[in-house]
Amino acid sequence: MNVFVTRQLPGGALDRLRARHSVSVWPGPLPPPQADLRRAAADGNGLLTLLTDEIGADLIAASPRLRAISNFAVGFENIDVDAATAHRIPVGHTPGVLTEATAQLAITLMLDLMRRVSESDRHVRRGCWRTWEPAGYLGASLEETTVGLIGYGRIGQAVGRLAEAIGMRVIHTDPFIGGHSLDSLLREADVVSLHATMTNDTRGMINATTLAMMRPGAILVNVARGGMVDTKALVEALRSGHLGGAGLDVTDPEPLPADHELLAMDNVVVTPHTASATVKARTAMADLAVDNLLAALDGQPMAHCANPEVYAQGGGAR
Ligand code: GLV
Repeated sequence: MNVFVTRQLPGGALDRLRARHSVSVWPGPLPPPQADLRRAAADGNGLLTLLTDEIGADLIAASPRLRAISNFAVGFENIDVDAATAHRIPVGHTPGVLTEATAQLAITLMLDLMRRVSESDRHVRRGCWRTWEPAGYLGASLEETTVGLIGYGRIGQAVGRLAEAIGMRVIHTDPFIGGHSLDSLLREADVVSLHATMTNDTRGMINATTLAMMRPGAILVNVARGGMVDTKALVEALRSGHLGGAGLDVTDPEPLPADHELLAMDNVVVTPHTASATVKARTAMADLAVDNLLAALDGQPMAHCANPEVYAQGGGAR
């Protein structure tokens, strides 16, 4: 069958796909333009996509031979899953294998901001550091820090385990698992870390109102989705000094333009959406994405499917 893969993947997973199907891989370093994606989908039986590829209802409707979409990501908000379900197309994703890597980057960003690592590194590089200073670059102590986790699923719980292991106090809020209310968590936490799924409820949840509830000097960490934070409100909270810092692996927009105000702030650390970027996690994601696609093209259920109801519909998946 014909499979289109929107970017080269790490490891040998694509070789397994090539052994069974006719595979073309988009050669560019940037996502394929929508017109190329549509052309490939219109002729294809399988798509292996990244979260930067928008797979909308029109593209799905215009792809009559498409039998499976496999996303190389745990999130899948780039895909119109309802439209895929309506066409009985299973949508795969890659949960689980990036949990530890993502949690580790969240902790890294917290520690960086608490101990002002990137900030002081920039000072040293600019030649601004002249001598050892008793009151220079003072930061926060782990044992005096409460981390508030918004979202307490797989990744939130992994962050909680790591944070507790290094001496932090951990609280959480989650609409399904419970814990604190959002308001009380925001009022109590020294570090607020986002681990929720992007939905209409979580889009823009960190805004002027919720930022104002955070403790003066608190730190915000986002390794979930940029759209959960109102960027303008965040800039304002940092500019006014209400917030102590922000560690952002994801932003809105993404990437931020090079002249964005956030990038000029010393108490902001921005990484390029690399929370899952360990060799282990990305190789496992490639394997899982390929396994999902191989299964669906064989008419079998995907191991990790965002819309498993396609298998329950009369006649099964396409
Ligand atoms: C990364 O952001 C993912 O959803 O895997």
